[in-house]
Order: sequence, then C-alpha cells, then structure tokens
Amino acid sequence: MLRTHHCNSLAVADADAKIQVSLIGWVDTVRDLGGVRFVDLRDREGITQIVFNPERAEIHAQAHRLKDESVIQVTGTVVRRDADTVNPKMGTGEVEVVAESLVIHNVCQPLPFPMEDDKADKVGEDLRLEYRYLDLRRPRMLNLVKTRALAARTIRRTLEDEGFLEVETPVLFKSTPEGAREFLVPSRLSTGSFYALSQSPQQYKQMLMVAGVEKYYQLARCFRDEDLRADRQLEFTQVDIEMSFIEREDMYALVEKMLAATWKSVLGIDIPTPFPRMSYQAAMDRYGVDKPDTRFDIEITDFTDLFKNSGFKVFNSIANSSGGVVRAINAKGFADITQGELVNLENIAKTLGAKGLAFIKSENGEWKSPILKFFSDDEKAVLKERLNIEDGDIVFFAAAPWEQACAILGRIRLEAAAYLRQRGKIVIPPDKFNFLWVIEFPLMLWDAEEKRFLSAHHPFTAPVKEDEPLLATAPEKVRGQHYDIVLNGVELGGGSIRIHNPEMQKHVFEDVLKIPADVVESRFGYMLKAFSYGAPPHGGIALGLDRLVAMLAGRSSIRDIIAFPKTQKGQDLMAESPAPVTPKQLRDLHIALTEPEAKGK
Ligand code: AMO
Ligand code: AMP
Repeated sequence: MLRTHHCNSLAVADADAKIQVSLIGWVDTVRDLGGVRFVDLRDREGITQIVFNPERAEIHAQAHRLKDESVIQVTGTVVRRDADTVNPKMGTGEVEVVAESLVIHNVCQPLPFPMEDDKADKVGEDLRLEYRYLDLRRPRMLNLVKTRALAARTIRRTLEDEGFLEVETPVLFKSTPEGAREFLVPSRLSTGSFYALSQSPQQYKQMLMVAGVEKYYQLARCFRDEDLRADRQLEFTQVDIEMSFIEREDMYALVEKMLAATWKSVLGIDIPTPFPRMSYQAAMDRYGVDKPDTRFDIEITDFTDLFKNSGFKVFNSIANSSGGVVRAINAKGFADITQGELVNLENIAKTLGAKGLAFIKSENGEWKSPILKFFSDDEKAVLKERLNIEDGDIVFFAAAPWEQACAILGRIRLEAAAYLRQRGKIVIPPDKFNFLWVIEFPLMLWDAEEKRFLSAHHPFTAPVKEDEPLLATAPEKVRGQHYDIVLNGVELGGGSIRIHNPEMQKHVFEDVLKIPADVVESRFGYMLKAFSYGAPPHGGIALGLDRLVAMLAGRSSIRDIIAFPKTQKGQDLMAESPAPVTPKQLRDLHIALTEPEAKGK
C-alpha cells in the first residue's frame, strides 16, 4: 500500500523510536506559522499533523499551494510535539510527522460547500446529495457509514452463529398488487410482459422453507414505489429472516438476541431482554398507535360512559353512537401552550378528520375552556380524578369513532410531547431505548372503501389457532400470529408465523379476502402447489436495516445512513436519475410513451 499507517495511529512511542512513515489522505487544513507550514492530513481513520520545514525548500514551497481536500502522500519521521503545541483534543495530538517527501496525487477544485462537520451540517441537503462523495468524506458522515457496516456485521455474525444460511432471492419478481405500489420492469424477451421489483422476499423465503433450508436470512434490497418520508425510501434494506419448526416465542428470543448483540457492539450498551410485550388493542387504547413511544407516560383515558348522559351535545351523541368513543389525554405542564401551537394541534386533528380539538386548561387554580359551561360538577370531578389534572396541565379530547379517536389522540400525544421536550418539561435521555413487541394484531381489517377484509399485514400470516373457527363467520375477531418489533415509537420490523396448510391458505385467499379463484390461481397457484409437497410449519420477520441504524445513530432521517439515498421526489441528485431513455431503447421494449394527462382529469 501507499501508506505504512493510518492517520489515527501514531503515538509518542513511535516518536521515541523515530520511525519513518508514509501517510496518504486528504488535506484537511493548511497553516503557515512563521515560515513553518503545518498540514493536517486526514484519512478514513483520523488526522495527523504534518510539518513542512523551510530547510526542505522544494516541498515547503509545494505545501504552501496545497488546496483543501487535495490528495497527498507524505513520507517523514515521527517526532514529539513541543509541550506547548500538544493538542489533547486530537488522537494523535502529541506527535507530528516531519515531511521529507511529498507527492500530490490530485488537486481539489474549489469546494461547493465547507467540509467542516458543523458548517456542512447546515448546508442544504440537496447540495450535499449532489456532491454526496464530498458529504460522505466528512468524519461525521463516514462514522455513520461505519456504524451501518458494524451493525450489519454483527447481525450477520449472530445469525451465522445461530445456524442461518444466507440465500439470495430474485429482485426481478412478478406483480402481486396486494401490498405497496410496485416498480415494473418491462421484459425484452417476453414482449408485453413485466417483472415487478421485489417488495420483499416474502414468497421466496417461504419457498426456501418448503425447500428444507430451515433457517434463512438475507440483507435484502426491497423496492416500493411509495411516497417518500423521513423513514421511507423507494429502495431499502431488510434484515430478512425465516425459520422452520418454530413458534412465536422462538422468533422473539432470536430477534432479542440479535438486537442485544447489535446495541452492544455499536453502542456498548446492554439492553435488557426479554422485551416487554403489548397487545395491539392495548397499544391503540393507551397510545393511539400500533407503534407506541413509551419513553414518556402521557396515556389516553376513556370517558365514553361518563359522557353518555352529558349536557355537552357533541360528546353525548358520539358517546351514544355505535363505535363512538370520547377520550382524552392530559399533557402535563403544557398549559402554557401558545395560540400558534394550539392552532397547529387543531389543524393536525382536523387533517385526521376531527371536527375540532376540545381542551381544558388548568391555570392559576382555574379551569379554562370554551366548553367548560357544558360540563357538570360531577363530570369535572371525574375528569380531574382520572386524568390527575393539576395546575399547569392541559387536557385534549377526541370524540369520534374508535379508530379516528386513536389516530387523533395518538398524534396529539406525540406533538404535545415534542413541544414539552422543547421546553425541557419532558426529558428523554439519548440512550433510552424502549424496545417493545406489539402482538395479537387482528388478522384482518375491514376496508370500508373496497368493502372487503384486507390482511392487516399480509395474506400468509397464520391465524391464532383457537380463533381459526371464526375465520368463516367473524373474520374481524380473528387474531393473527403476527408480531411487530417497535423501538421508541418506530416500527423496526414485523413478521409472523405463516400458514403452511394449502387448504387454509386457499380459504383465506378466496373466502376471507374474496380474491377470485382464477386470480388466486394465477398469482399464488405455485405457492398452494408447493404447500402440498411437504411444507414445514414456519415463520419469520423482516427488520428495516435503515431504520435500525438510524436509531443506533440517533438520526431522524434514514437518508443520513444510506450512502446514496433518493430525495423526497425520488431523485438521485448526484447521478441524476431517473432520466429519459432513447427512442430506440423504448422501441426495443415495445413501449410507447403517452403525454401525461392534464391535472384534474
Ligand atoms: P413489512 O412490509 O412490515 O414486512 O416490512 C418490514 C420492515 O421494513 C421496513 N420498511 C421500510 N424501510 C424503509 N423504507 C420503506 N419504504 C420501508 N418499508 C418497510 C420497516 C418494516 O417494519 N415480508 C414482510 C416481513 C415478514 O412477514 O417476514 C415485510 O416486508 O422497518
Ligand atoms: P362546538 O360546540 O361544535 O362549537 O364544539 C365545541 C368545542 O369542542 C370546540 O372547541 C371544538 O373544537 C370541539 N369539538 C367539536 N367536536 C369535537 C370532537 N368530535 N372531538 C373533540 N373536540 C370537538
């Protein structure tokens, strides 16, 4: 190699031994102090100070012209720094290398943005993505690359030690429009036919179980043509796992072991196992979401019965309607809410379908609320007691059908907590990791638009054994053998024990999901066939690696921990994709482009 050492590795002992070294990397800074020139040389691992003395006139002159981020190679002798120039903040701050030769490998052009971490972090993300290679070269970003690699290595090691086989599955799959929107790929060899990019290796990994692999894993690229968000990309990576001859408990134990090993290796933290568990119903009732953030304890309280005879018409009529609930949260200490914050919360509630966001503030020993006049003393007493309303608190209400009330208060809970965190009234230590299994999901959810049941997760999830008889009569009451792993309010992953009996799978497709028999045959026929050739009981899970690493690194956007992410609009600003193709390419695929339809049509 062109180097003998990395830039983080030299120490006092090397200076005392007067060793000769070759270092190569990027010019971090150049300084001229009374004729002596200092260059901080940086590589992936760290920084070493290089000294260019005037006695070596030629390289001293060259050092003067070095541009930041140019690539240079230096050979020289390691020496101790003078006591007054020791830099305790630097790993190699006690030594420096006196340059004896210099090779300039590449001169860097003027930079599009400052490379110092603190300054670069404030640069617009689009510019950083256009010059992603510069962005990633910064120590702070390189650390994220390292964190991701270490997490992936630990996950692989744990699974290998447990006897898992890594198997690659096709990315070119076929269209199965049950899940997220897919990317289609035209087939040149079968004109007019399309592949779909795999949304997940779900069906292949189940086939591997039928094939006798028993324990499969893959760090699998998945593709979903979804609207992008901070925690969603068009292509992302799953830690994809499937196992034969197991029950749910086996999967919980495996994932806990894998995550504990990962948190230990990356953060040096021992996370306690087993993780707590919560039913879907409890999660929704208490936190309003199926991925509760349990790091702070604002919880939802039900007052439906209390308001059944209330003088407040809005609450009274909803409390007495079928499926309607009246619920509230107490955002402790948030009575100092500003008008702007209140309007923001109301607007959020309205986007979720609420008519309004009733509230009661307790300030200076007094309750204040536009609806206070409607509440009886009795109702006030019950509210005060059950919500523990104290001075300085504010209570928010949702009166709505159950699901909508969950959605509204679940969201208001998070928004209020965010405001309280800004005020320092809720303090969450950065190393607080609340892992949680959410279990006992319903197998099916009623889709009011399509007027049929849809799988809560996917149609391969097995029902809980004792609920099987209800499949034909009351599918909404059937619980699935599904589990989600949640961390601090983020869904890290989900999976289930699968159906392995072909009759049961056909029953779910045709009688419960109401997929016509010929469609079942053309889409899933091969699975049903495979299940009739000795399918073992099996189950699995997939964890979003991007989300997992973002949590490890304390980042709110998964773009930060993906080397080359897409923007909100699905673009790669560096390579400039997507991009048009030539008419010939389209002709070869027998594809004709049409004018995009005008908006509103
Ligand atoms: P699911 O669809 O729940 O399950 O996906 C599993 C996990 O993948 C992550 N994830 C994403 N990450 C980034 N961007 C996206 N667009 C995105 N979509 C999903 C999430 C999620 O929890 N085959 C099943 C798993 C199984 O049953 O074994 C599946 O794909 O962290
Ligand atoms: P109204 O009597 O409709 O003017 O409502 C009185 C107060 O209750 C207003 O502050 C509304 O924002 C609020 N409100 C109305 N409907 C609901 C509801 N379904 N859930 C919660 N708050 C509501």
